[in-house]
Amino acid sequence: MTQNENAEPTPQETEAKSENHAMNDHSKIDLRVVPCVGRNLRNQLADLMVTAFVDDPNAIWHHKSYKSAEHKFRRLLHDLFIAEILSAKAHGLVQCTMQGDTVVGGIIAVPSAHIKKFDTMVTLRYAKRVLGHLPTVSTMVNLALTDMWDARHRSKIMKGRPFIYLFAIGVNLRGQGVGGVQMRQLTAIADILGLPIYLENSKDKNLPFYGRFGFEVQEKAVVREKKDGPVLWLMVREPQKAGPAPPANAV
Ligand SMILES: CC(C)(COP(=O)(O)OP(=O)(O)OC[C@H]1O[C@@H](n2cnc3c(N)ncnc32)[C@H](O)[C@@H]1OP(=O)(O)O)[C@@H](O)C(=O)NCCC(=O)NCCS
Repeated sequence: MTQNENAEPTPQETEAKSENHAMNDHSKIDLRVVPCVGRNLRNQLADLMVTAFVDDPNAIWHHKSYKSAEHKFRRLLHDLFIAEILSAKAHGLVQCTMQGDTVVGGIIAVPSAHIKKFDTMVTLRYAKRVLGHLPTVSTMVNLALTDMWDARHRSKIMKGRPFIYLFAIGVNLRGQGVGGVQMRQLTAIADILGLPIYLENSKDKNLPFYGRFGFEVQEKAVVREKKDGPVLWLMVREPQKAGPAPPANAV
């Protein structure tokens, strides 16, 4: 799933464009899905993700010392998403949904075999980026402890099976079919590979969206069982077409 920084749009992307037209009944907007390559797309996607996640209970909880300074919280989230996009680009899949030259949605996904590497790279990149405006040590420690908590729950639920980890999905035009286009692309990949998709959903209002694409709640948990911790719905979508059985080390 590694992407090429200098890649021109491929025939698959062109095909995805026409497919998206057919699948997106919500509007007449002209959408195409492309790999998130280059600084411009990366920055646009990070900006979009900040806006999509600024009200996310999980993101807020991990940066609670910045609750009263939204501009600082947004800046830290931006740095965190840049770290996540760069790390997922190296170890997973980052796609942008484009309307003309504008990124209107994005998805970050990581194959299960690369999650540890991804988490480590995100922590290192984030720490490096925020040196100038260092978040409290407790924020960094909190994020690292939650990574470990997440990993324990993922392995309990997935029981050693290979899977795709849907790390983040966001749009800036909600309810217009953009999230659906992105999700259909990812589920198509998962179905071809015969792999389940795992995600941690932090908003109950997103449950119907994920349900629409075949995700089922496996567990509802409070992050690190903390009294004030955010709730996560740990969800799995099984592959819906019989693909070839992947070897244990496929992802
Ligand atoms: C969650 C999110 C990605 C959904 O994207 P979206 O573009 O608004 O969703 P779409 O309009 O493409 O809807 C896709 C499908 O889900 C269905 N759907 C969406 N919300 C629904 C709801 N509340 N109830 C029932 N169906 C719903 C739509 O009807 C559509 O189905 P269809 O394609 O068969 O008609 C978007 O709301 C978002 O970015 N939210 C902020 C960030 C976020 O919460 N990310 C997830 C963190 S866990």
